[in-house]
Amino acid sequence: MPESPDFVVAPIAELHTVRGGARRGVAMSETGRIADGGLAISTGRVLAVGRSEEIISAYPDWPRRSGRLVTPGLVDCHTHIVWGGDRSDEFLRRCRRETYQEIAAAGGGILSTMRATRSASVEELADGIVSRAETMLASGTTCLEIKASYGPALDGCRKELDAIALARTRLSQRIALTFMGGHALPPELSRSDFLRLLTGELIPMAAAHPAACSFNDVFCEEGAFTVAESEEILQAGLRHGLAPKIHSDEFAALGGTQMACSLGAVSCDHLLASGPAELRALAESDTVAVTMPGTALYLGKAYADGRKMVDEGCIVALGTDFNPGSSMVSSMAFVMGLAVAKMGLSPAEALAAATTNAARAIRMDAGSLEVGSVADFCSWPCDSLEQLIYQFTFIRPDEVSIAGSKAAKMTPGQPE
Ligand code: NIG
Ligand code: FE
Repeated sequence: MPESPDFVVAPIAELHTVRGGARRGVAMSETGRIADGGLAISTGRVLAVGRSEEIISAYPDWPRRSGRLVTPGLVDCHTHIVWGGDRSDEFLRRCRRETYQEIAAAGGGILSTMRATRSASVEELADGIVSRAETMLASGTTCLEIKASYGPALDGCRKELDAIALARTRLSQRIALTFMGGHALPPELSRSDFLRLLTGELIPMAAAHPAACSFNDVFCEEGAFTVAESEEILQAGLRHGLAPKIHSDEFAALGGTQMACSLGAVSCDHLLASGPAELRALAESDTVAVTMPGTALYLGKAYADGRKMVDEGCIVALGTDFNPGSSMVSSMAFVMGLAVAKMGLSPAEALAAATTNAARAIRMDAGSLEVGSVADFCSWPCDSLEQLIYQFTFIRPDEVSIAGSKAAKMTPGQPE
């Protein structure tokens, strides 16, 4: 007698099961597509998956609903959604051809969000996180990473982590947490004083905070932190149990990618300016190559060569980089569409990059619908993955399940 499911989803016009684990090269194209498929869900996990007639005949009398296109819940492995203030003016300045670096040098950029975040309360920051995460949920994001990245002093960093802990109690998504004290140098401190503060106080505080950070990230870039400083910051995280991540090659390839790969970093993120040596280092490592075309779109820069990254054998993942400065993008479906339209990925590769590989970039058990997987899935108002990608500018799922439960809010700001 088979174990009883809680419910069955069948028939499904097109189901993508997406085998779990890190996928590279041609394996990124195998998304486990089943035409006329079905799923049985029990206690938040996938109990059975297969052709719809097999599932329906194994479980004929259980509650059942049908689906058109069903994919694993989308995983957003890179966001900065804790922020105060507003930077729409900077976006318009960039549209008038001022650069991101010129705006930052004039006192705007990351430092302006740091000032606004400092003057916001924990509750205000938590409200912002919840409303952004709910918008992401409505676009199909069932797991996400959040970086605490705009609080350069001890009180500011602690406040961001408190706000994330509070927001978590109001959200149904699973959330991985990254501390990114190494984002910008606060102007009131010298480089050496800030590095001492970061490695000696901020990182230990973050590692001990009950919000439970898993990762430590740093912005390795001209105008931010050098490769040597980035390594010092990542090593300090490792001493406190935080696994390394890095923002590298966003504007210039300085060697941060190679350094992070040699440290065994979980991911290198951005990679807009990566060259052959950077891609080789990634392909020869288990470090995930996270690319975020929303940032290229908002900064008016060339997109990363995703085709080359896949062909070279990198574990390619996608994220939104949702933040007030360089990417007001919250939808992973939109990011998948950009990856196909602008980075040379196929729809299947974009799906693997937005599910199992993104889960790998945040060490989350997610992004797949095999037997035993957590039952996070999206049911889309179209009949194929190709149609989802084609409609990327506006498509949203009409059902999102997190661990087998319908997610609380599909329309942000509306009661269920
Ligand atoms: O990932 N590159 C550095 N950090 C963010 C931008 C943050 C901001 O502009 O506020 C990023 O793009
Ligand atoms: Fe970022």
